[in-house]
Amino acid sequence: TYSLKGKNVNTWLDFSQSDISGLLAQAQHLKENPHNNILAGKTLGMIFEKSSTRTRVSFEVGMFQMGGHALYLNSRDIQIGRGETISDTAKVLSGYVDAIMYRTTSHEKLQELAEHATIPVINGLCDQYHPCQALADIFTILELKGKLAGIKAVYVGDGNNVAHSFMILGVLMGMDIVIASPKGYEPDTEILAKAKQVAVENNGSVVVEHEPIKAVEDADVVYTDVWASMGQEGEAEERMQAFQGFQVNDELLKEAKADVHFLHCLPAHREEEVTASVIDGTRSAVFQQAENRLHVQKAILQSVIG
Ligand code: CP
Ligand code: NVA
Repeated sequence: TYSLKGKNVNTWLDFSQSDISGLLAQAQHLKENPHNNILAGKTLGMIFEKSSTRTRVSFEVGMFQMGGHALYLNSRDIQIGRGETISDTAKVLSGYVDAIMYRTTSHEKLQELAEHATIPVINGLCDQYHPCQALADIFTILELKGKLAGIKAVYVGDGNNVAHSFMILGVLMGMDIVIASPKGYEPDTEILAKAKQVAVENNGSVVVEHEPIKAVEDADVVYTDVWASMGQEGEAEERMQAFQGFQVNDELLKEAKADVHFLHCLPAHREEEVTASVIDGTRSAVFQQAENRLHVQKAILQSVIG
């Protein structure tokens, strides 16, 4: 088992390429051998401030398959929803469970929980990052292409949490990442600067473009996500206008390599960010990608609390 004992999984910015290679190898092993008793007696607390299908189910099933247990804690039902502080919650849960997975509206709250917890904290999505998703994304690309270094992956759409984590992990593994976003919806400049630094150190690259047609030229992988994330429902109309021309459709994919693969973290809105012909077509690997959340998160759990 690859060990990263006691580490938090927050942004991946504090992990090395060999840490990630270790996790990917472990995930592969777990995909082939799903059941073990490595986490017997261990418990994962999962705090959700937002909806979830994949993250919730894959973490819970993953703990069970390794002999452990997971608790679903909706923030509305625990005392955090009535104003108990994040720091008190972190200290209390540290006395009961072995790790906490937190899906939250703000990265600051994630940092605060991690600061006050004495056990590993795993980011299950925040406004800025979605690290577990990104690990599943690159694991899927490795399965599809047999390598990561030198693979050109183009993310078309909102420079959001999914885009941030994908570009960080992509460049850490030596990939060439292009983010094609409308003006005003590019990735966060500070996170982009950090990703560029990681790229330099690991022989990857990341560039931001504004023309999807140009961006996807010769792409091995095309990735998209929703135009309005959870919590941005009020901006949906405005975003729909801003993202015109950024839909992943058959026309756009003509510019990519003939053997291009399509990825989406899901949930998807058909005929908005992607056409049904693409997401339900032969180039789509979205359900393989969704399944892989289970395998990579089991590798994370084993490494940090096993
Ligand atoms: N991709 C993803 O994180 O999905 P859920 O919101 O369903 O967990
Ligand atoms: N960017 C999306 C991802 C959902 C898994 C959101 O934050 O809602």
